[in-house]
Order: sequence, then structure tokens, then C-alpha cells
Amino acid sequence: MKKCEQIYEGKAKKVFATDDPNLCIVDYKDDATAFNGQKKGTIVGKGVVNNRMSNFMFQLLEKHGVKTHFVEELSDRETLVKKVSIVPLEVIIRNLSAGSFAKRYGVEEGIEFAQPTIEFSYKNDDLGDPLINDYHALALGLATQEEIDTIKAMAFKVNEVMKEYFKKLDVILVDFKLEFGKTADGEIVLADEISPDTCRFWDVHTHEKLDKDRFRRDLGGVEEAYAEMMKRIGL
Ligand code: C5P
Repeated sequence: MKKCEQIYEGKAKKVFATDDPNLCIVDYKDDATAFNGQKKGTIVGKGVVNNRMSNFMFQLLEKHGVKTHFVEELSDRETLVKKVSIVPLEVIIRNLSAGSFAKRYGVEEGIEFAQPTIEFSYKNDDLGDPLINDYHALALGLATQEEIDTIKAMAFKVNEVMKEYFKKLDVILVDFKLEFGKTADGEIVLADEISPDTCRFWDVHTHEKLDKDRFRRDLGGVEEAYAEMMKRIGL
């Protein structure tokens, strides 16, 4: 597989074309941003953690019938994926209150919900990824109703699989963000990444944060938290 020209650079990843029009190579960086790029920094080794953890999670999800963009891990930071057009929705599932939910609704963090919640943000940096509902997504032509229904069902399935998996590692899956893509033949697959950048992980006993909130909130021990998650997964 030949790595060709760079076709995209995001805050945490670069994407390269390959000599196969249906495949791309994702290259994970150590660059860290928060608050829509207002806070910038580096988390040493983050690219390796996020690449390897994402690939592990994608393979676990595939075993449970969730279709993903994952094809093959090429190196510590590079992965071969199916070429998709990203649906411009950030899909957030929450099991406990935290982050923007706690702030928006004026509740403390750590309240366990009777059932998980789902929300969509319109993926648009210039607008600061505003919260939108299904009707807005349809009105803006971001996805069809059928695609939205598929995305919701897949997101809840991902939550069930991941919540159970992390529970066995003494980790509470507080919330996470997913992105979906459409393949050349129109199939919706899970894309982007699943990592401490995109999930909130709390230790079940101490509620110690083992994710990017350590960077966002200047709590220190960022690299150690990412390494602890890798250790618990056995990577
Ligand atoms: O900030 P907020 O509480 O809305 O984040 C919910 C979840 O989505 C967190 O796990 C966070 O890491 C993730 N997220 C993300 N990328 C964003 C916004 C949120 O990965 N742009």
C-alpha cells in the first residue's frame, strides 16, 4: 500500500490518500487542542495511544456487529482505513453528567442517568460545533432520516459494548463522542477515533479522571492517565 498525498489535516490527525481510491491512511499526531482550538499543547505519545486504542476498540466493536472504517494498523501512529465522507455530526452519548451537559443544565458532575442520552453537534469549527437536533440536521441536509436512525442505533450499540468492556477494567465510561462516515457504496460506518481524547474515563473507585479532561482542566498527569488506560486495556 503506497502512502500518497496528504488530503486533510485536522487538530489531532492527518489523512493521506493511497494508491487504492477506496482506502486512506490516518496518521495520529501528539498535538492536543481544547475549547475549539483556543487551548493548544502537546501530549507526548498521545498519537500512539490514540491510534492503538482506537484500533483495539474498532476491532472489539466489529466483533459485536458494528461496522467501522478500520482496515489494518500499519504502525504505532498509522492506520489503513476505508475512505469515507464524514457525516458532519458529532454524536455524543452520555451515561453520567459531566462537561458541557453539567454546565449547560446547571447540575453537578457524576450523576448517573437512568438511561443514556444522545445529542448531536453540527461539526463546524467556525460556528463552534453548535448543538443541533434531528430536524435541524435534516433541514441543513447533513444526513437523511434513515441515516440519522442508523447512526443513533449504532451509537447506542457502541455504548453498550464499551460500557461493559470498561466496567471490567474498573473504568466508568462517563461519555464519549463518535463520528460516522459514508463509504463509496453509501454504507454508514463508525469512523474517526475512540480514545482518551474523545471519551471521559473515570476510575471506578476514586473517580480519578483518566482522559483529556486532565489537559483541558490543567490537572497534570496527562501522559500518565493515557498510559494507565493503555495498561488497563493491556496494550
Ligand atoms: O464537552 P462535552 O461534555 O460536550 O463532551 C462530551 C464528550 O465528547 C467528552 O467525552 C469529550 O471528550 C467528547 N468530545 C470530543 N470532541 C468534541 C467535543 C466533545 O471528543 N469536539
